[in-house]
Amino acid sequence: MQLADRLSPLQANVFADMDRAKAKARAAGLDVIDLSLGSSDLPTPAPVLDTIARSLQDPSTHGYLLFHGTQAFRRSVAQWYERKFGIAVDPETEVLPLIGSQEGTAHLPLAVLNPGDFALLLDPGYPSHAGGVYLAGGQIYPMPLLAENNFLPVFEDVPTPVLAQARMMVLSYPHNPTTATASIAFFQKAVTFCEQHNLVLVHDFPYVDLYFEGSAPPSVLQADPEKRVSIEFFTMSKSYNMGGFRVGYAIGNAELIRALRQIKAVVDFNQYLGILNGASEALTGDQKPVAQVVETFRQRRDAFVTALNRIGWEVPRPQAAMYVWAKLPDRWSNHSMQFAIDLVEQTGVAVAPGSGFGKSGEGYVRFALVHDPEILETAVDRIAKFING
Ligand SMILES: Cc1ncc(COP(=O)(O)O)c(C=O)c1O
Repeated sequence: MQLADRLSPLQANVFADMDRAKAKARAAGLDVIDLSLGSSDLPTPAPVLDTIARSLQDPSTHGYLLFHGTQAFRRSVAQWYERKFGIAVDPETEVLPLIGSQEGTAHLPLAVLNPGDFALLLDPGYPSHAGGVYLAGGQIYPMPLLAENNFLPVFEDVPTPVLAQARMMVLSYPHNPTTATASIAFFQKAVTFCEQHNLVLVHDFPYVDLYFEGSAPPSVLQADPEKRVSIEFFTMSKSYNMGGFRVGYAIGNAELIRALRQIKAVVDFNQYLGILNGASEALTGDQKPVAQVVETFRQRRDAFVTALNRIGWEVPRPQAAMYVWAKLPDRWSNHSMQFAIDLVEQTGVAVAPGSGFGKSGEGYVRFALVHDPEILETAVDRIAKFING
């Protein structure tokens, strides 16, 4: 059988190698502490589950859901956004429900790129950003994120011939995996740059609520309130622990929203209405559960960073997101994959190798804080034995 060439760039997936290494560790009888995936272990708020359970009993929610049927959810999204950022959003033309934000960011390049066009992506970055560009037949220009630039890209470094053929730029702050944050001033620069070079500005914003210090992370639309070039992606997976329910939304420029809706109309019939009802409840209801999520991740961050520093692995205290991005000790500085495989096979502690997020992620590993402090501390004890052993 001959399959499409576009599959080949999708095959290099370090997470599949990690999956095998985790299985091997389990088969060898190790108790695996999995810090390799950013899948929240915290519960979905009870009122959300109750709403979904009630919807399940209502047969009118069981059929295909056309765009019109998503109106109540889109209104909840628009209200939520206006309350948070003070920018008016039209739920009819500027909001689109998604089956998880990953689905949206992966489909958007099909609406923006012609084959051969460039997308400017963060390196390291979230793997589906690159995957979507490959599926659309586009080319990737990786913008390296370096510690000395606070893990922000330097727009001036993008070569002119690339810019001439570029159609979109993808940003995402608070950033996975580096946990870096960006200011409104940075987004203003990005908007000006995208306007100058006729680029669509995409902002993937799953960690909108997960910040521990300072002011709230800004929305890109605060720098582009008229929504001239920007589209922003949100998810219910992090703030409301709804990862398995697959629900997110895009907000932004009406032409981009319409184009993405056109692509999606080929592929899906929207998320199940009961889940959209639950998501509306989450967005419009009591927001205390979000504060609890933030507090839980803050405690985990503090316990984990303190423990790592105690064993002599100095890492900065992240200000946002649910990860710790750690520069590897010198011995492994160019071998994050080997470090991750050996660590899980010898100790059962699974981490994400930095190289899995792009070339500039090499030399780092990402710890997802998806366990309670005691388990995180046990993980650090095992890491200490591995590093010093
Ligand atoms: C940057 C980024 N985008 C998207 C996602 C996936 O979100 P969703 O569950 O809505 O697809 C994640 C999940 O970790 C992420 O870190």
